[in-house]
Amino acid sequence: MNIDFLTIEDLDLAGKTVIVRVDINSPINPKTGELLEVNRIREASVTLKSLEDSKVVVASHQGRVGRYDYVSLRQHCKALSEIMGKEVKFVEDVFGEAARRAITSLEKGDVLMLENLRFAAEENYEYSPEEAAKTHIVSRLAKYLDACVLDAFPTAHRAHPSIVGFAAILPTCAGRLVAKELKSLSRVMLTAKAPYTAVLGGAKIQDRLEAIDALIENGKADNVLLTGLIGLVFLRAANKLKTPLKPEHEKFVGRARELLNRYSEAFYLPEDVAIQKNGERVEIKPEQLTSDAAVLDIGEETIRKYSKIIKSSGTVFMSGPPGFFEMDGFEKGTHELLLAMASSLGTTIISGGHLSAALEMVGVKEWIDHVSTAGGALVMFMAGKKLPLIEALRMAAARQRGEKIIQ
Ligand code: 3PG
Repeated sequence: MNIDFLTIEDLDLAGKTVIVRVDINSPINPKTGELLEVNRIREASVTLKSLEDSKVVVASHQGRVGRYDYVSLRQHCKALSEIMGKEVKFVEDVFGEAARRAITSLEKGDVLMLENLRFAAEENYEYSPEEAAKTHIVSRLAKYLDACVLDAFPTAHRAHPSIVGFAAILPTCAGRLVAKELKSLSRVMLTAKAPYTAVLGGAKIQDRLEAIDALIENGKADNVLLTGLIGLVFLRAANKLKTPLKPEHEKFVGRARELLNRYSEAFYLPEDVAIQKNGERVEIKPEQLTSDAAVLDIGEETIRKYSKIIKSSGTVFMSGPPGFFEMDGFEKGTHELLLAMASSLGTTIISGGHLSAALEMVGVKEWIDHVSTAGGALVMFMAGKKLPLIEALRMAAARQRGEKIIQ
């Protein structure tokens, strides 16, 4: 796999005004709206620190419209200031006059963070690069910018204006994180071989269903081991749950049933699950679940079966933790499956901030071939899909080198 892209060293960015699209979308406390974790902010600071001779404009999204995590980036800005050990200015605006004024008053070495990009409606839709370049976000800001650095690998699968629009019209290169991720993935993919196993949990059901289809269709998953919420949707589709799920999850059961029927050989569903009863972990069969019981982990039988498949796979890709590993007594599924991955002789890839954090807790990070805080984007990459951010980098590199652009 050969991905062509420019790096920061390939562009002359000294004294220039540079927009850096990072992904500091972080966990938020649903009750207080407080920022819970700064891992992605710390990671983003690596590229920002290496642009100290430029005027830097930091741009990111946070959460999704209508959800509890759809909050301002003001707290992120404060955290970034602390991590960088210097003032990072904040402007409560995305592309309006206030944002443009703040950009034009930047001095060399200054860092300015824009407000949550998704507060601007356009950033919630997908566009072709040409259309994205015409959006208000891109067309209004680009006049004041000299270059773009794309460092948001976790958002690489979204063709949003900030991912594909600036790159279509400004000199554009990969930031440190994206460059590291692409280099490591290219290396890892060289050793990847069948049988391929995908261990999928996580809560973004729509994205997961799309990814499962692409993974199996493109021969990138011979086995799909399901856990978490997506596991419950498939258990329901297989008629193993008596009571309906919440309406926002139940609506995906039809699609899950279609996939189960089409690829019945590939799927493995939890054979037992863990719930909490009187403060204790209790394991039951899915058929025994009642609507008031929350599933907090996979059970022992499932752990044993999944571990065996993981250990005998040529390549294992795991995204989304199998259980609420932060809760005492419910870390078992996550820990055991991560240990099985660590002892597998196959190529191993871990995806998503949550699972990366769990991996640190188990202490076997160095046994895994590739670890990324990216979730959905990495799943799509593994499924062999073209990612808009990678395509944007590829086209910007070809343009810079004066080559003919092949879409
Ligand atoms: C992520 O955390 O996976 C990325 O920030 C993308 O977020 P999204 O799924 O809301 O686009």
